[in-house]
Amino acid sequence: MIHSSSSVLLVVGFALVATAAPCDLYASGGTPCIAAHSTTRALYSAYSGQLYQVKRGSDNTTTIISPLSTGGVANAAVQDTFCASTTCLITVIYDQSGRGNHLTQAPPGGFRGPESNGYDNLASATGAPVTLDGKKVYGVFISPGTGYRNNAASGTATGDSAEGMYAVFDGTHYNSGCCFDYGNAETNSLDTGNGHMEALYFGTNTAWGTGAGSGPWLMADLENGLFSGQNPKNNAGDPSISFRFFTTILKGGPNKWAIRGANAASGPLSTYYNGMRPSVSGYNPMHKEGAIILGIGGDNSVSAQGTFYEGVMTSGYPTDATENSVQENIVAAKYATTSLTSGPILTVGSSISLRATTPGYTTRYLAHTGSTINTQVVDSSSSTSLKQQASWTVRAGLGNNACFSFESKDTVGNYIRHSAFELKLSASDGSKQFKEDATFCPQSGLNGQGNSIRAWGYPTRYIRHYSNVAYISSNGGVHSFDQAASFNDDSSWVIGSSFA
Ligand SMILES: *[C@@H]1O[C@H](CO)[C@@H](O)[C@H](O)[C@H]1NC(C)=O
Repeated sequence: MIHSSSSVLLVVGFALVATAAPCDLYASGGTPCIAAHSTTRALYSAYSGQLYQVKRGSDNTTTIISPLSTGGVANAAVQDTFCASTTCLITVIYDQSGRGNHLTQAPPGGFRGPESNGYDNLASATGAPVTLDGKKVYGVFISPGTGYRNNAASGTATGDSAEGMYAVFDGTHYNSGCCFDYGNAETNSLDTGNGHMEALYFGTNTAWGTGAGSGPWLMADLENGLFSGQNPKNNAGDPSISFRFFTTILKGGPNKWAIRGANAASGPLSTYYNGMRPSVSGYNPMHKEGAIILGIGGDNSVSAQGTFYEGVMTSGYPTDATENSVQENIVAAKYATTSLTSGPILTVGSSISLRATTPGYTTRYLAHTGSTINTQVVDSSSSTSLKQQASWTVRAGLGNNACFSFESKDTVGNYIRHSAFELKLSASDGSKQFKEDATFCPQSGLNGQGNSIRAWGYPTRYIRHYSNVAYISSNGGVHSFDQAASFNDDSSWVIGSSFA
């Protein structure tokens, strides 16, 4: 039995003893969770139910991922087996609180999602692998266009009533789009006015508030405003974040609110703001509506990116002490990074060719003609220029060095990037966007041959040839090049030595 100031003990019946999980801690603080979402672990020490559901591309069937043991981490091996040799999407993130506040594919709102029916995209089940205490689990990797929502949640704060929330995000995955959020939002997916939301926001959007430095920042999305403090423009006490794992906290009640944050892997929370509501009309009192969003704005703005590992919402205004013990529990869960790649190994600095594996196309290689990336028939008798067009130098991923970038052999300084989901050969403009769009993560080939190579920023999308032109394609979707037929073959490539 462990007993310390940081490990609260729960004693149930005679003998069952467990370290308190976040929602046990909020309950003992008198501010119980009314929603608890995580694809990585149980957020109650006694929880052994459903964590999330995945759907696979091969036959559209689903399976449920639950904890390995009561109160434990996700049994991700179930996902790995179920999703082997196909693609998988996260279809449901279950609410562990017992209230049924599950998160599912967000419907169209003020902004329409990218699916043909206006719904948002679902996240890849494999885009955000991490370990918890050494065990591999998966977070929720939100690309622009991806979002989850529950517009009929029960027990969430409405009006000016008090609530708290926390989430653990990837502090290195963000952008300036609106809005990577988790928390309380409008129940009709429309912008219904100032004060109709109260959600965690993380990113570099500067349209409303900012913090110190150039970001990214934790702010509160209160609708028509991202707030870092009482001053609607800037709070110099809200720091730029570089933690890989970032604990974020937001709480709000009648004319008071706070944002707090910490390295989710070590150390205590800091308070970035604690005080009165912003000095702009509409935010005091608040007009909270009680829907729950993940990865999008209250009006379904879908331009943002970020990664979510776990989060909860509470009834009532949690004490700092309760939140401090939640942070201790998160640190004790031991979030850590793991490999983003699998399959045949790529070596930085090597020169390679990438051969198509689709029956009937196996003499074609990934090549470029000017700025177009395509496939061309290449062999030892091909011209030197064609050989060079089909040869690539492997570089450390420009946007994430756990993955790779591919530099042209004959147009040095130009890289394969995606733009509007088409692959292009382009010189780096040095921007974060270029670097991320030029970063690809190989994994074992979906058809059993070579590698499939997913876009780092869009892990539902893989380098694929379609009509001999190259795209990043999803396994089914709104574009012709997303068609499910032949997807595994068209997106598997055998990596060999280069022609030139
Ligand atoms: C899966 O469902 C989609 C529609 O939601 C359909 O277009 C596709 O053909 C289905 N795939 C399989 C393998 O049944």
